[in-house]
Amino acid sequence: MARSQITEASIMEHVRRLEDEHPPIRLDSVDRTIVNPLVVRERFAPVIDYLARVELEVDRNVLELLTLLPGVSEVDRYFYQDVWQPQEIAHGVILDRLQVDLGLPPSEVFLGIPMRMKLLGALAHFPAIQQITRLLYYLTGAATERQAVLAYNRFTNQLDELGEKAISATIIGQIKRQEPGHFAFYQMSATQMIQDEVLAPWQLYVARVLREKGFALVGTNYVPRYEANLGGLMVGLGIDQELEKYAKDVGRLEAKLLWANKNGMEFPPYFLEALRQSVDMYREHGFHPKAP
Ligand SMILES: [Fe+2]
Ligand SMILES: [Fe+2]
Repeated sequence: MARSQITEASIMEHVRRLEDEHPPIRLDSVDRTIVNPLVVRERFAPVIDYLARVELEVDRNVLELLTLLPGVSEVDRYFYQDVWQPQEIAHGVILDRLQVDLGLPPSEVFLGIPMRMKLLGALAHFPAIQQITRLLYYLTGAATERQAVLAYNRFTNQLDELGEKAISATIIGQIKRQEPGHFAFYQMSATQMIQDEVLAPWQLYVARVLREKGFALVGTNYVPRYEANLGGLMVGLGIDQELEKYAKDVGRLEAKLLWANKNGMEFPPYFLEALRQSVDMYREHGFHPKAP
């Protein structure tokens, strides 16, 4: 039997379930016991720095969203405002607390909106352009959440190996349970647009060009220092040892939905290029949590 069609009602239902089942994590529900702070700090400083900052930057993501989607739909609004933003901010607060507990500086959050996004936002008042930016918003969200799932999975495993059970179970473990539902929202929303053929061939073409020319991984914002910090996370979690597999995991949905014209593409090449570039930047420049 073919998979059932995705409808606005089924996406709404999904968001309602996320709201019911996943209230924002409370800071006092977390066990902040650290067995060996020096070791955790030594091994995971760049990992925690990157994750905390990206989680705390959700407010910028909301500003970007309002720039790119001036006529936001009710289901999108419900998701980002009532469910997603409160969950992600709580992730950020808890991770930020962890880094302070480890004696690391608190996050320095980047809240600017890149110029290219403002330009695209100005065009988004045209409905045909907004359909393109909406698809790209969902694809970006899906890739970002998938990356979060993979990073938190690896991070819990490595903390368990070190015997850091409290951080693993009550901090990273709690956070990681909320990420797959976010991924599912974006996946369903992007799939619905393709399944309903909302975009004409020319719009899909423009979406592919924008993606190829302007792709940036989450939290990098075209800033070299942030790219290096993402590279630090990948090296810290050992993702740099299997970049292609990782690119496939993160880029598979986008290859299927946006690049269906390229038979057999496993992931868009710009994913792997951006990942490689981040790792190279880290190897070259190291980890710098603060601007010089
Ligand atoms: Fe999160
Ligand atoms: Fe998330």
